[in-house]
Amino acid sequence: MIVCHCKVVNDATITRAVEEGAVTLAEVCRTTGAGTDCGGCVFTVKALVCEHDVSRARTMDDLRALSIDEETIRAAS
Ligand code: FES
Repeated sequence: MIVCHCKVVNDATITRAVEEGAVTLAEVCRTTGAGTDCGGCVFTVKALVCEHDVSRARTMDDLRALSIDEETIRAAS
């Protein structure tokens, strides 16, 4: 499924970025290019990152680390 139409990034690419070590939404966007043009896909990208990360989280600190940083929010607006 294409997640980011501007940069033609699919869900498998997002998942691979997370599996290869991208921890934050900003890192996933930088790594894949998703969300770096119009920003319309950022919430879908975030949902994919959260789905993946929540399943990996083992502690409350892991869950706290999933919050969106302000840089990403500004990039999406
Ligand atoms: S749809 Fe992803 S940046 Fe535009």
